[in-house]
Parts: sequence; C-alpha cells; structure tokens
Amino acid sequence: MLFSKEVGESLTYKFAQAAGEMRAQGKEILSLGLGEPDFKTPQYVFDATVKAMEEGHTHYSATQGLPELRNLIADDYNKRFSSEYKRNNVIVTPGIKAAVYFALASVLEPGDEIILLSPYYVSYPAMVKLAEPTAEIKYVSLNRDFTLDIEAVRAAVSERTKAILVNSPNNPTGMVLSADEVAVICELAKENNFYIISDEVYEKLAYNGTVVTSFGEHQEIADKLIICNGYSKSHAMTGWRLGFAIGPSDILAKMNKLQQHINTNTCTFIQKGACAVYHNEPDHLPAYIEQLEKRVELFDTTVTSMGKRNVRPAAGFFNFWDISFAGVDSNTFCAELLKKTGIATTPGIAFGADWDDHIRVSLAVDDKVLERAMELLTGYIK
Ligand SMILES: Cc1ncc(COP(=O)(O)O)c(C=O)c1O
Repeated sequence: MLFSKEVGESLTYKFAQAAGEMRAQGKEILSLGLGEPDFKTPQYVFDATVKAMEEGHTHYSATQGLPELRNLIADDYNKRFSSEYKRNNVIVTPGIKAAVYFALASVLEPGDEIILLSPYYVSYPAMVKLAEPTAEIKYVSLNRDFTLDIEAVRAAVSERTKAILVNSPNNPTGMVLSADEVAVICELAKENNFYIISDEVYEKLAYNGTVVTSFGEHQEIADKLIICNGYSKSHAMTGWRLGFAIGPSDILAKMNKLQQHINTNTCTFIQKGACAVYHNEPDHLPAYIEQLEKRVELFDTTVTSMGKRNVRPAAGFFNFWDISFAGVDSNTFCAELLKKTGIATTPGIAFGADWDDHIRVSLAVDDKVLERAMELLTGYIK
C-alpha cells in the first residue's frame, strides 16, 4: 500500500512515547500530552458490562450494532432534535475514530474535495487519505483567536466539494462553533449538495456556560448529515473502544459493509454495557467540568501573568497555546520543554501547517500534576 505523506506517524503518540521512555529511565515526567479523561468509567457501565458477560453476551452481535443499543441512540437523538432516526440510521463502531473513518470511506470518491478546518484533530488528514487516496483536502484555517472565518469556508467550496469534516467542540483549540456558524455551514451544505461529517465527541464537556450546538439540530439536511459520537470522553471509556455514527440510511448501509468486512461487530458485551449510559444520568459530569474549569483558569493565569498570549478553551480537554514568543518551531519547543522540565506536550504542527507556533497542552490530568507543571513552566519561561 502506498502511504501518502498525510499518513505519517501520529505526533501526539510520538511525544507521549518519548516521555514514556524518559520516565522508564527514572526521570520525573509530567504528561500533558494525550487527552484521556482522568476519572473512572461510571460504575453502572462496569456493572452492566460484567452482567452481560455473565449472561453470555460473548458472541457476535448484528454487524451494525446491537438493536437495543441502536434504538437507545436513535431515541436519544430523536428526543433532543425531533428527528426521525430509526435504528438503521445508527452504526456502532470500535471508537469514534472508526465511525469517522467509515463515514469518510463511504462518502468520498476519486477526485472529490473535502474541507477540513485547521487546526484539526490529528488523525483527520490521514483518515481522509486512507479512505480515498485521490481526495483533495481543502484546509480552512481558523483565525488566530480560533474564531471561524465563514467566508473562507464559503470560498473553499467548489463543484468538487463532497464533504466538510467538522469537530466542535474542537480538539485542539477548545473552540465551539456558534449556532449561527453551524446554521451557515448547513446552508452551504444544502446549497452545494455536500455532506457534513460532524465529530461531536466533546459535546458534553463544555464549560463556563458555553452552549454547544449539535449539527443534529438541522434536520433539514438529515440526508447529508453524519454525526459521529460516543462515550470515550464523556464517560471515560477511551479503552473500551466504542463509538457510533448516526445519519442517512444509504450511507449507513455502506458503513455497515465496511464493518462487516473489517470488524464484523463491535464487542458485544461492551455494547450491552453502553446501554446503561442511557438508563443513568451522567451525574459524574458537573463535578468534572468544574475541575476542568479550574484547570483552564490555572493554565491561563499562569501564562498570562507572564505576559504571554493565550486563548482560553470553551470546551474539551485542551489549551492550544501560542508560543510564537519563543521564536522556535513547535517541535523544537516541545522537545526542549520535555528535556529541561519533563513536561510532555504536543507540537502545534501536528494539527495543521499553520500552527507551528502553538503547542497543545492537555488539561485532562490530575490537579497536582498540572500544578507542578505550572511551577516548572513558570521557571522555564522566565
Ligand atoms: C476529535 C476527536 N475525535 C475522535 C477521537 C477519538 O475517539 P475514540 O477514542 O472514541 O476513537 C478523539 C480523541 O482524542 C478526538 O479528539
């Protein structure tokens, strides 16, 4: 297989691995690299999963996913958006990444163009090129304060545009598209007949009163909308590998063909466990969001009190920090920071060519780790 340049090693893992090696050599490492929730999967998910195993749900499930879970997912969206999703509009996948990839592979055809907002989730360009090697990616960079230039999106649309891949709330910036921006993107999709693939994995992790508008609110484009979501971040289930997509049944049928030939089905008892998500309130979230707010505050005051520019995230796990004051590229900055202080972060270049003067700092870490990292960072920058 010919791997295009977009299908490189994931830089987020590269720095996490370097930090792991230093830790193995006995060095103190403060990992602000990856975005894993630092709380436990809720007990009700454990209990439902163990029960499912004990009850013998250890065989194949329907390839598209357990009907029980797909019904719950469809009902959940229908309650929220007065949509009319049925279970054949849902596919359960091994993680949200797989949902996004299957959606891309089902939608893109040779020579198509796809619009990506930059900075983007690190795997998107590779996913596009693996899904359709001839697809051309049109990057639209956010403004330096991470607001969206909607006219730049409009200008990126051409006759060949097949889809836009959006991620709001966004990794790495924590930017949340406004209701108006979501509406304009939907209008553009309708006028120009392209798909919206919306990765909404951080939708439940917005803070300081930020309102997240799901693309699901725009049912007038339901035949062109594929929403990818799951429980990895909201229910600390990154290791369980579970996600889903909800969208038009013709695209879902194609995604199911991919699943049949590649994955067969997503782990059956884990799907049973996920049903518990819909029978329980996410009581763990308010306290966790409060913690995230405090960490956002801590990072922001640490860097702004040193006179450094920062744009606070509105949601998610990350602060995308402007390091242009340092006058070096983001790889060099991260490598030096790791060597001198043991703080592991991710270079901005991993998230788009225009962002080599930023680094991504994860706030999904223990408070003590972040506090210690802020002391060391202050000493280092000074
Ligand atoms: C935007 C975005 N999409 C998808 C994922 C991956 O989700 P999952 O672990 O469920 O595949 C992440 C994880 O960092 C993410 O930030």
